[in-house]
Amino acid sequence: MKLVRAKDYLDMSRKAANIITAQIIMKPDSVLGLATGSSPVGIYKELQERYEKGDLDFSKIKTVNLDEYRGLSGDHPQSYRYFMNQHLFNVVNIAIENTYVPNGLAEDPEKGSAEYIKIINSLGGVDLQLLGIGNNGHIGFNEPGTPFGLEVHCVNLTDDTIEANKRFFDKKEDVPKQAYTMGIKTIMHAKKILLVASGESKADAIAKAITGPITPDLPASILQLHNDVTIIGDEAAFSKLPL
Ligand code: GLP
Repeated sequence: MKLVRAKDYLDMSRKAANIITAQIIMKPDSVLGLATGSSPVGIYKELQERYEKGDLDFSKIKTVNLDEYRGLSGDHPQSYRYFMNQHLFNVVNIAIENTYVPNGLAEDPEKGSAEYIKIINSLGGVDLQLLGIGNNGHIGFNEPGTPFGLEVHCVNLTDDTIEANKRFFDKKEDVPKQAYTMGIKTIMHAKKILLVASGESKADAIAKAITGPITPDLPASILQLHNDVTIIGDEAAFSKLPL
């Protein structure tokens, strides 16, 4: 595991964008696994700027997102499809048909999950997976206690997560109770993993993920077993790590 200390959110975003930029330059037809939430917004902004300067070309890039709320259509402003279109896909030269997000409206969760597994496999797997981390140590929407062996599946969100994500909705009751997510097994199949964390609310989860026991109770702890993981954290997020 490689730990990279960043000064603040902007520095974290630039350092992470550097790694993604290098990936795209070295392999222009990369499959990028992408994430949503506040953590990656700055990274997407950096990538947009680099594209606008002519330094990045997304024309052959394919993307698969980690997760999506169950019950939200891609037109819903809080859906992860909408987020991705707004923050990245609509502002760079990626072909929208090369971008994949789980279908939040799939009627049957089993079928919806199986379809997404098929898509990921048909792309030949993920070259670089970007991850954020939940306050409770979740990655994607793999909540504490989720078995490590799962592929894409539908989950019940914990109250912690609903509470943390209600800031994006008018009221807590509007936050969907379920979501589709790549499972830990799917995430661990990515060739490279890049996790970003910013702010004090992530400090506990980061310290446990890096130095604690590997346990489904802290889903991100599984990353200790992956052979190519980079974690970029700002000072606050790394504040509980031993020096
Ligand atoms: C959500 C997403 C995760 C994300 C987490 C942290 O629950 N499903 O993929 O990592 O939130 O979000 P933020 O970056 O906004 O703190």
